Amino acid sequence: MSTTAPRHSPFHPYSGRYEVHATMPETGVPRDEILRELKEMSSEEDRKGDSGRVSGSIYSGDHDHYAFLVEAFAFYAHSNVLQRDMYPSATKLESEIISMTADMLHGDGDTGGLVTSGGTESLVTAMLTYREWGRNVKGVEHPQVIMPVTAHPAHDKAFHYFGIDVLKAPVTESFQVDVDFVRDHIGPNTVALVGSAGTYPHGVIDPITELGELALEHDLGLHVDGCLGGFILTWADSLGYSHPPFDLAVPGVTSISADTHKYGYALKGSSVLLFRPKQLRQQQYFMISGWAGGMYSSPGMSGSRSGGLIAATWASMLHLGKQGYREIAADIFRTAEEIKSAVRSHPELSLIGESLFNVAFRSDELDIYHVNDALADRGWRMNGLQLPPALHFCITKPNTQPGITEAFAHDLDLAVAYAKNPPSPVPRSGAMYGSGGRTPDTEQVFAGLTRYLDAVHEVGPIG
Ligand SMILES: Cc1ncc(COP(=O)(O)O)c(C=O)c1O
Repeated sequence: MSTTAPRHSPFHPYSGRYEVHATMPETGVPRDEILRELKEMSSEEDRKGDSGRVSGSIYSGDHDHYAFLVEAFAFYAHSNVLQRDMYPSATKLESEIISMTADMLHGDGDTGGLVTSGGTESLVTAMLTYREWGRNVKGVEHPQVIMPVTAHPAHDKAFHYFGIDVLKAPVTESFQVDVDFVRDHIGPNTVALVGSAGTYPHGVIDPITELGELALEHDLGLHVDGCLGGFILTWADSLGYSHPPFDLAVPGVTSISADTHKYGYALKGSSVLLFRPKQLRQQQYFMISGWAGGMYSSPGMSGSRSGGLIAATWASMLHLGKQGYREIAADIFRTAEEIKSAVRSHPELSLIGESLFNVAFRSDELDIYHVNDALADRGWRMNGLQLPPALHFCITKPNTQPGITEAFAHDLDLAVAYAKNPPSPVPRSGAMYGSGGRTPDTEQVFAGLTRYLDAVHEVGPIG
């Protein structure tokens, strides 16, 4: 069944414009037609990200860089990394990505790693590793992880998938994990601690040195979620910015994740997870012997995977080099400072935590979501936060374009004025990860989210 009949759904804006393919066409559609449709949709959608008014999400935005990565991807798009004998170059490229990242994050000779499909897979894999390590090495049957309330929900996904107990530690006024709480709650089942560098909500770095001391004292794993910050914070020292230590230079850190598909400026679908000692990685290797298909083993979650993403990630790191990364980081840190100044110019707003690249702010006087509504009306896509209600602007390369910070300062003035006298007491936006919408009560929201997740997997509106 194919149709172009208009259907109205915010998730299906193309329904009335292009043919809807609910079933495969009997005869193939010509290549040029397919490419034209894809080109039209993608170039229109890219306008938002390229505008420089989007928080996070698009980290490079340099279409020339993307074209180069896609060229690298194309050589290996069809190759399967699982077949190492056929594609030994995957071993070269992947191990070099791991080694370059380990060097960047101050690993030593006993640091090993994995290239995963993204931050979530890196974190889920790290948590599985500590469950297995807890059981196999420490003899803890019901392993528990202590993590800050601000740590990314991908950890919760792992706890949910793998039946790991979690204890959430509060944060202090600086929005860093309360180390005293962590210290007081380490128990016989605790196998690992988590800290972030930086956190998704506020971009702050947890006190990794203190967590490392606790990890060493109690023989625990310590995972640092550097998915967001790993590839940007690392350049701060050499650019004259100070920040707390967060990587493998800190004693006690046993794993760290850093996403190449964020500030590594690679294509979407890649992240690096490092282990120290290297041997820790083995805890989550999977192998099975008595299967009709033969002996099977895989080093991580995925089975077959494309060599294309590995080639593109490797190409990004190699082409930019330390100097290239440093130059982009300098622009991002400068832009973040300018955005902070714009926020500071409003006594009604206050910055949350200290971050070099992710500017979070709140208000005691205004409904911050009204501020967001007015910014959204002017084309800004901020991220809404909660606990406390706040917004963040995670600065990426597209935001460093000339004129962006001036435009933000101007529009923030208007947004604050709007929020002082909003047309309706209830703002349109709220704290929905990655998008907008109010969050009235959890059950209602979960029902709505379930409908949303269903809807985005349909060719048109449901029912
Ligand atoms: C701190 C942090 N950890 C993990 C993730 C998850 O990464 P991904 O969306 O690549 O799975 C994010 C995503 O923004 C993040 O900010």
